[in-house]
Amino acid sequence: MSNNESPAGGTAVFLDRDGTLIEERGVLRRPEQAMFFPDAAPALRRLQRRALLFIVTHQPCIAQGEATEDEVRAVNDAVVARLAGDGVRVERVYCCPHAREDGCACVKPKPFFLEQAAREYGLDPARCFMVGDHPADVLFAENAGGTGLYVRTGHGEKHRHELTANTLVVPGIREAADWIEAALDLRTLLDENPSALRDAAARLRSGGIVAFPTETVYGLGASVFDERALARVFEAKNRPHFDPLIVHIADRAALATLAESVPEPAQRLADAFWPGPLTLVLPKRPCVPDLATAGLPSVAVRMPRHPLALALIRQAGVPLAAPSANPFGSVSPTTADHVRAGLGERADLVLDGGPCAVGVESTIVSLLGTRPALLRSGGIAVEEIEALIGPLEIGASVADGQPAPAPGMMTRHYASRTPLRLRPIAEPLPASVADRVGLLAFQSVPADASPCAAVEILSETGDLREAAARLFGSLRRLDGIGLDRIEAELVPESGLGRAINDRLRRAARP
Ligand code: TXA
Ligand code: MG
Repeated sequence: MSNNESPAGGTAVFLDRDGTLIEERGVLRRPEQAMFFPDAAPALRRLQRRALLFIVTHQPCIAQGEATEDEVRAVNDAVVARLAGDGVRVERVYCCPHAREDGCACVKPKPFFLEQAAREYGLDPARCFMVGDHPADVLFAENAGGTGLYVRTGHGEKHRHELTANTLVVPGIREAADWIEAALDLRTLLDENPSALRDAAARLRSGGIVAFPTETVYGLGASVFDERALARVFEAKNRPHFDPLIVHIADRAALATLAESVPEPAQRLADAFWPGPLTLVLPKRPCVPDLATAGLPSVAVRMPRHPLALALIRQAGVPLAAPSANPFGSVSPTTADHVRAGLGERADLVLDGGPCAVGVESTIVSLLGTRPALLRSGGIAVEEIEALIGPLEIGASVADGQPAPAPGMMTRHYASRTPLRLRPIAEPLPASVADRVGLLAFQSVPADASPCAAVEILSETGDLREAAARLFGSLRRLDGIGLDRIEAELVPESGLGRAINDRLRRAARP
């Protein structure tokens, strides 16, 4: 994570304009028509610490006479100026004004502009990324030897069927930035230790247990088919054997090797949210060991959205069963340091992939019953799932027909050692307290917080995704300073707020 290497050591991120940075609204002829996605500027601020930024836009409206070159230039200038106002420096805007059928040299997916920038700015195409909502954007990078990322915003949904199977699809610019940051971290790891992934994969194949990052939390992985390694995972975590594991895969084809059947709603969910923080519970195939599923006839599967996790699973050549890499019952780890602090030497290896971008565990949906059921709220908002497949059964005690309570729904699962009390947002604090109290606040510190020994704020802007990403780290910090009590504010019960409140309520149980 060296921010001090030359502007980005030959690294650049190329960005499509319409549908990626600003909303897709047809031909734009006036600057005020450009509507930024709210995630764009914060995402680019992160990326520019490690990469040069360029915009590459295709504006056939010029060739087609729907807008003049000056009008398009004015919009591009305004986009750059608005970003500059938000602290983002765009090196240059490359614009192809031709119609696709003109056969020009500069239309995407031809990597013309990437190669030009590489010459002018000393870029290494292998360290270049392109983010866009059209398959041509992805190919633009790949044709130059770089990496293309496809966003579902803009025309993303419309053209998705044209993508090749291995294209990385992310919800939007924010998650694209998460991925690129993690990919650069992985590159740094491999620069320092070129065999890190190979070694870890070899360990996994020979019965080892390896902690690795995902976009949600760090996992403690073992080959799903190796029962002795699975037993070591339970032992290392001190986890009861009736709590089943999530199996992590790197491509869709692997799903059919684990699940007996994949009903249509499960297909739709996987299409929409994989790779990503969604776990699907499906009937299991006999090859999945009982130890992985705690004897249940079902298996929980997810495809993580983290370059290191996917590369590790591919190298290992087997799906990885992985619970969160923390002692059972404690707060899940969102950094490699958290893993080391919790598990000590009990993992054979800890792969450091930087902090987890999502920060709460995956959402778990069971597709065993007549209606899909929510088993755990998490990194994908319930609202998004319901928008796709209709209402979920909520509070279903478990996968149909199973006697045990939905595991992971166990009381006091996400606990700090310090007692934790829930408080409504902005409830006045007592004027003075004898106890040493820490406050976990959502957006701001109440004016009367002076009696608090320590305060953590989850998101000053009230962004629930940022709050989720900070939750476990903040809890750990408060837990580590010997307080008598933590007072935690509940957050709004929508989007990722549900997962946050769920974890806080569990932590508050005596
Ligand atoms: O984000 C995540 O899901 C993280 C990362 C590492 O992928 N993993 C994670 O695993 O949170 P863990 O072990 O902390 O949670 C696994 C939970 C179980 O406690 C249970 O609730 C659910 O997944 N689960 C697994 N298999 C199941 C099954 N067959 N039926 C119902 N629930 C299942
Ligand atoms: Mg576009």
